[in-house]
Amino acid sequence: SSLTPLLAIETSCDDTACAILDSHGTLLGESVLSQEDHAALGGVVPEIAARAHLKALPSLVDLTLERAGLALSDIALFAATTGPGLIGGLIVGSSYAKGLAMARGKPFMGINHIEAHILTPRLPASLRPEETAPNFPYLALLVSGGHCQCILVEGVGQYRRLGGTIDDSAGEAFDKVAKMLGLGWPGGPALEALAKEGNPRAYTLPRPLKGRPGCDFSFSGLKTAVSRHLEPFGREALPRHIAADLAASFQQAVADVMTDRVKQALAMVPPVTALVVAGGVAANQTLRQRLENIAQEHHIAFLAPPLRFCTDNAAMIGWAALERLYQGEQPGDIALAPRPRWP
Ligand code: KG4
Ligand code: ZN
Repeated sequence: SSLTPLLAIETSCDDTACAILDSHGTLLGESVLSQEDHAALGGVVPEIAARAHLKALPSLVDLTLERAGLALSDIALFAATTGPGLIGGLIVGSSYAKGLAMARGKPFMGINHIEAHILTPRLPASLRPEETAPNFPYLALLVSGGHCQCILVEGVGQYRRLGGTIDDSAGEAFDKVAKMLGLGWPGGPALEALAKEGNPRAYTLPRPLKGRPGCDFSFSGLKTAVSRHLEPFGREALPRHIAADLAASFQQAVADVMTDRVKQALAMVPPVTALVVAGGVAANQTLRQRLENIAQEHHIAFLAPPLRFCTDNAAMIGWAALERLYQGEQPGDIALAPRPRWP
């Protein structure tokens, strides 16, 4: 169409990402820069993230154009994440995209980050080799460092939030427990690796909200329970087998909670065609397996986008823009302000 190729920018957390898509959603060029300054600080520092996005964007956009074999003048539409997320990064990314759009006299489209995540399983076949795209309605579980929620996806732009976390996100819980166990940041992958050596039944940990109706999540009680088991060790080094048992027990508890919550969610909605999981925590094999089992029990498809599209990326932002264009929606108001929260 006259609105492609489009260039999309994602800066809502600590990944600076740019992607260029054609009218079918084929990825013509892509680049991602994961900020590393935060690891030493044990978490994402918003102000540092915003400055890093600003520093990275110009060359990242140039590199993406180069990879696509295109010039800026070829781009017909500029899209960027305008929320939810860290406001500094959102301002940087969306202002940069708006600036390019104004300079070239082209339209701008602001994209909701959550919407982009939950539409990823619908990415074109070229980007998800092994899987078929789900039909509506489907149930999406978004589990990342910033988010933990369950959404019924009835169509593009038709979402029903069934529940979400009342304290930490799933990723935060993994990261905080990993930190207690002396693993690096982000700790999810390291915790999963360590859990492979441990016994998931070694420690009795709570399953917050398990069995309750609805689809809310809570992880802070679980985190506190892990810290209580660590108290006897004080400042001594934690023996590896203890750390492994705690990691395995914690992971098991999270998996049990997620299983329960997703089952509750399925009971709340009309029949769906698929269970979809997105977000960085979807990399966890134990969780994936459990979710796959639920899908099998319900005779519905289980879809997890390839890992690079599970975590924050700009291809999903471009794809969400396309899905909206396919629906006949026109690019939005260039004055649209980014918003840290977007119900
Ligand atoms: O989607 P993502 O890359 O970015 C955010 O939205 O934050 O998710 C990152 C989160 C981190 O909290 C990280 O620890 C977690 O996903 N994570 C994992 C695993 N891989 C990444 N959590 C558990 N098991 C994993 N294998
Ligand atoms: Zn995200």
